[in-house]
Amino acid sequence: MNNPKRITITAALPYTNGPVHIGHLAGVYVPADIYARYQRLIGMDVAFVCGSDEHGVPITIKAKREGITPQQVVDKYHAIIKKSFSDFGISFDNYSRTSAKIHHDTASEFFTKLYNDGKFIEEVTEQLYDEEANQFLADRFVVGTCPKCGYEESYGDQCENCGTSHNATDLINPKSAISGSKPVTRDTRHWFLPLDQYQDWLNDWILKEHKKDWKANVYGQCKSWIDDGLRPRAVTRDLDWGIPVPVEGAEGKVLYVWFDAPIGYISSTREWAEREGKDWEPYWKSEDTKLLHFIGKDNIVFHCIIFPSMLKAEGSFILPDNVPANEFLNLEGNKISTSKNWAVWLHEYLEEFPGQQDVLRYVLTANAPETKDNDFTWADFQARNNNELVAIFGNFINRVVVLTHKYYDGQVPSPAEFSKVDRDTLKELQFAPEVISSSLERYRFREAQGKLMDVARLGNKYLADEEPWKTIKTNEERTRTVMYVALQIASAMAVLSEPFLPHTSRKLNRILGVSSNDAGQENHIENSWNDISQKQELLPSGHQIGTSELLFSKIENEQIQQQLDKLAASKKANETMNATVEPQKDTITFEDFTKLDMRVGTIISAEKMPKTKKLLVLKVDTGIDTRTIVSGIAESFTAEEVVGKRVTVLVNLAPRALRGVDSEGMILMTETPEGKLVFINPDDDVPNGSSIS
Ligand code: MF3
Ligand code: ZN
Repeated sequence: MNNPKRITITAALPYTNGPVHIGHLAGVYVPADIYARYQRLIGMDVAFVCGSDEHGVPITIKAKREGITPQQVVDKYHAIIKKSFSDFGISFDNYSRTSAKIHHDTASEFFTKLYNDGKFIEEVTEQLYDEEANQFLADRFVVGTCPKCGYEESYGDQCENCGTSHNATDLINPKSAISGSKPVTRDTRHWFLPLDQYQDWLNDWILKEHKKDWKANVYGQCKSWIDDGLRPRAVTRDLDWGIPVPVEGAEGKVLYVWFDAPIGYISSTREWAEREGKDWEPYWKSEDTKLLHFIGKDNIVFHCIIFPSMLKAEGSFILPDNVPANEFLNLEGNKISTSKNWAVWLHEYLEEFPGQQDVLRYVLTANAPETKDNDFTWADFQARNNNELVAIFGNFINRVVVLTHKYYDGQVPSPAEFSKVDRDTLKELQFAPEVISSSLERYRFREAQGKLMDVARLGNKYLADEEPWKTIKTNEERTRTVMYVALQIASAMAVLSEPFLPHTSRKLNRILGVSSNDAGQENHIENSWNDISQKQELLPSGHQIGTSELLFSKIENEQIQQQLDKLAASKKANETMNATVEPQKDTITFEDFTKLDMRVGTIISAEKMPKTKKLLVLKVDTGIDTRTIVSGIAESFTAEEVVGKRVTVLVNLAPRALRGVDSEGMILMTETPEGKLVFINPDDDVPNGSSIS
């Protein structure tokens, strides 16, 4: 859209069944925040809204599992999520929640309008019902085989494997997620949004109008949806957690979570406008407003097909101008998983890396999964901090500030005549806002951040080439000019970095003495995005800069190792939890058992079997005799380690030769889930030769 008057930016409402992790941040919240901050910097009227998605089956399931109420679940996570977003610096104008009264009212009004306008089909249909749990099964309460891709763990409303959204009755071999039982079907009345009636309109709107400016991944998903043919979708459910269906005779029914949640964007805007004394309606109803939805790829169908159809049906709302959805971020090569605790949690990061919000922002943007899934690794996190933020951005600023204090007591010097290099450098600096804007306007955040770093590179190269630390001894005029130019670059960095690295930008402003808190003071300076290309100078000669501080600090190996250890611990805990227990073997008689002669013994010596990896040759005191046993335990123990160990020995196993050594028995062992062998030994002091029975 050309020249919008205002921009409404929404970020997917996170489910409150767990905290926020780096996957959410990279996919949705960091890009949305960069965009919102950038728009504010260029003077746009912005409403950046979000809130907690507190309805839906995952929350009821979590509550059941933990023996608490759904309200307790959402209260807990709403508080954690809200605080971590704010500590991280996501600059929402409002963060609401769907349990708020204003949302219940907004969603009910919306439904009622569509209901009164005859936009729904009301129909009694057969739905899946769990006879053990006495309830209807919708959405995540039911799993089964996806009718489209054959994935066996598809949910009732959406398949996480292929992204298809379907009706629970479409699943092949459905199974209740509550009781595990096979559901029956029962008749129940519901309201459906007839998406088939919007098919042609969607086709024109997305496939014709937006072909060029929507991301390929978004456009592709929409196209395949529309080409497959759309069907009516139920927008109500037989559940007790959610917004009651505001229609007579609908007791015990609530709005489908994907019907109410996107309306949450509207309620959040209303809540904000009420607080700020503004009118919310232009942000949702005015044709000169640009509406943008920042989401992850699993939300595309809801934001590009279903919610627009709802808005269209309502009739008075604008439609999204763009839906810049991202792909997924993996962690150390594996899919991020809340249930497996394979994640970097935002609230934990903030505690473990205090004051380092911008490092995470930087790394997530540098690796943003914009066109394909991407991987976050701690090694890359450390490298990007140490080799880019510290070595390029931080180093440039530090050199400029230290030299300004050293040569000029912290005052911006007055330049003499500019050389060609100076003029070219300043010219390039003037283009920087436009170059970065152009990437941002196309939702290419990694590219935009790369261009920001190019400005720091420009500064470093300029200093390295002009060498003010050398000219200070020979050419005082030249040094003043070079330092003046370098200070202009540093000052531009403070503005240009704001959308990406807001904490750094604030710090840099303080270092340069242009903190906007100085308002009213004598040398108060405020530079905007456009000033960089328009103002003659950003930092005038004679301006006193602040004291030097380090912008970024090196991240040491120990910190990275701690994070890797934490992940390793999650992995281990998972393996233990998932360790499959072997099924029981066929029964034997007591007589069979008495054939086994097992004794307590002690290993009295051990030697590695030459040229093997696994075998130790042991001498074992069995109480009966001292005998040789060859045992395959060398990958778990050294020879020295096992000497003196109490063990259980099967002594009447027929001897057999292993690598030419006769083995006369077997040491009984078990294994940890990680595959380390463990001896079975008596937990009290019994003599060698005691038999096991
Ligand atoms: N809670 C959903 C998720 O985490 C996103 C909801 S977005 C909204 O996948 F549009 F419904 F708000
Ligand atoms: Zn599927």
